[in-house]
This record gives sequence, C-alpha cells and structure tokens, in this order.
Amino acid sequence: MNAPERFLAACARAPVDRTPVWMMRQAGRYLPEYRTVRSRVDFLTLCKSPDLASEVSLQPIERFGMDACVIFSDIMLAVEAMGASVSFGDSGPQIDAPIRSMADVERLRVPDPEAALPYALEALRRTREELHDRAALVGFVGGPFTLASYFVEGGGSRTFAAIKTMLYAQSAVAHALLAKLADFAARYAAAQAHAGAQAVQLFDTWAGELSPAAYEEFALPYQAAIVRSIRSAGVPAILFVNGCAGKLDLIAKCGADVVSVDWRVDLREARARLGAGVAVQGNVDPCVLLTTPDAVTTAARAAMESAGPTGHILNLGHGVLPPTPIECARAFVDAPKTAVVR
Ligand code: CP3
Repeated sequence: MNAPERFLAACARAPVDRTPVWMMRQAGRYLPEYRTVRSRVDFLTLCKSPDLASEVSLQPIERFGMDACVIFSDIMLAVEAMGASVSFGDSGPQIDAPIRSMADVERLRVPDPEAALPYALEALRRTREELHDRAALVGFVGGPFTLASYFVEGGGSRTFAAIKTMLYAQSAVAHALLAKLADFAARYAAAQAHAGAQAVQLFDTWAGELSPAAYEEFALPYQAAIVRSIRSAGVPAILFVNGCAGKLDLIAKCGADVVSVDWRVDLREARARLGAGVAVQGNVDPCVLLTTPDAVTTAARAAMESAGPTGHILNLGHGVLPPTPIECARAFVDAPKTAVVR
C-alpha cells in the first residue's frame, strides 16, 4: 500500500498493511527548517504565500515520512476572510473588534472561498502535485464553536466566559453566529476537497469546554452540517474536539468518518463508545514527546494496542509542542513501521 491508500483505508475502517501515522501541527516550530523559513517572514505572510506554505507542509514528510501531510495554514484565516481583522501576537491570535450583537453578526461576510482564500487553495493544489502520493493530503477548517470563541473573546481564553455568556444569555445571537461560521466552513471545506485535499479535518478544539447539553445545542448540529459537506465533496471527514471524553456518545452522532481523540480517554473506551462505524485517530499525549525516544515508542505502541489494527490513525492527542526534540518526533513516526506484527 502507498501512504494515501493506507491512510484512506484506515479512514474507511478497511484492512491496512500497518497503522498510518501523522502528527497535528507537524509543520511548525519544533523543526529547524521551519524556523529558518519563519525567520524571514511573519506567520500570516507564510500562510498567504502558496509556495512557502507548500514548502513548509512538505518539510515533515521529507524528514520523517508521515502517511498524511496536513496543509500549512491556520483556522484564523477564515475568520479574517469573513471580515475580522486578525493579528498574531506572542499570546496567539487577536481580533480587533470582538462580536457583541446581532448587528455585528450580520456584518460578517460569507464569501466565495476561491475569491477570499485563493492562496490556501493554491497551496493545496501545489502540495498535492509535489507529494506524488508520498502522503495523503489533509485539509482543515476551524469548528464553529472554536471560531466563535475567537470572534467573541477577541483572542484566546482560559474560561471562555464571553462566548459562554453569549450562549446562555443571547442564544439567538450565538446561533446566528454559529450558523454563519458553519455555512462558510462547509463551503471552504468542500473547496479544499476540490483543490486536492484527500481528507478534511474539522478542528473544533475548544468545543470540549462545553457541557454535554451545550455541546448538543451549540456545537453538534453545526459540526454535522460541515461533516455532510465534506462527505458530499467525496472525501472522509475527521472531527477533533480537545477534551472529548464526556461527549463521545454525542460526537458519535455527528457523522464523521474519523474522530480524533485526545489523551484523556483510552482509545479502547473511545472506540466502544463511538461504535463500530467510526475510525479513531490519536491519542498520545504531546508531552510524552518531550521525553525520550524509548518512552515515545512505548506510548505509541500502547495507543496502537488500545485501538487495534483497523480503523486507527496514529496521531497525538493535540498538536506537537515547539520544544519537542527531533529524535522523539522520529520515534513517533517510526513506531508503526517497526511494530511487531499483532
Ligand atoms: O497541523 C498542522 O501542522 C497544520 C497547521 C495548523 C496551524 N494551526 C499552524 C499554526 C493547524 C491545523 C492549526 C489549527 C489551529 N489554529 C487551531 C485548532 C487546532 C489546535 O491546534 O488547537 C487553533 C485553535 C488555532 C489558532 C492558533 N494559531 C493559535 C492558538 C496559535 C498560537 C499558538 C501557537 O502555537 O503559537 C496559532 C499560530 C500557529 N498556527 C502556529 C502554527 C505553526 C505558530 C506560528 C508561528 O509562530 O510560527
């Protein structure tokens, strides 16, 4: 099997010659070759330059040989395309004028993705061409709740107090905002599939902060709409919610082909609660990769053991951390290649 065949077979829960592997945030600051590119351009310029974005996307594939290549971009570019002014400071993304009212929601645009994010789609086309089936190309969009939290908080948050206050006290405004974000994400995800993405991951990272009831009302229906759009475009949908353990029974209803699971729940349990119709991705704690290659190999094998050999994509439970040593990243990618036959 070549890498795209292996990756897509795992998404479809079909037999594989070995477990496919990649890492969320695999193109990034733990790589010296990424830091070299970044020393010349700022982050948004990098995202908006198809040649550089493509080069950076391919760096981890060239160094380690993952089975999937996630396109280098950011969920915040869609926020900008919808009309917000976004900047990246030391504390992460910042938005100039946070959303407070229905009038603010009405001002947001739902543009044509080809017109609003041509560089992102061009980066996908170039990367797909450069890959020559060395890895499956993975596109992504931000989940509605996660994007709404940036729109309403104006940046990152620990408590999510502003967005949650909107959910609980102004639910009509929240629903209008979430519906608009889902509408654009659905179009943008389909455009990515048409530009060559062989799977699309929906990063609704912060939806894990919601209670199950709030998740069911404010996250699930919007995620399901995006998943339907991805699947209608002919590629598998992967859903990632960081802190999914309390919501797996709800997440099972969203229709995703693959659920990306964080490290707070064992994959055996996740699989049992998600049901046989869903593949799992994950779920090694990124902090294990701050230790030793041997510890990484042990943790990766434990994840493969818990998940079983079919319908599993080995990944981290969240993004790779910038201080990760190269040898530990390599041990992670090599683990399924060197595993004893089960
Ligand atoms: O997985 C990948 O390698 C693809 C690229 C990717 C990035 N961001 C690159 C990035 C993806 C899939 C994302 C998604 C993203 N961006 C999410 C959801 C998933 C997650 O990781 O939680 C969120 C919440 C964001 C918003 C965002 N972008 C934050 C909070 C930050 C700052 C934190 C940080 O890591 O610096 C970013 C910046 C960002 N996005 C960087 C990268 C490589 C660092 C930029 C740099 O300084 O070079």
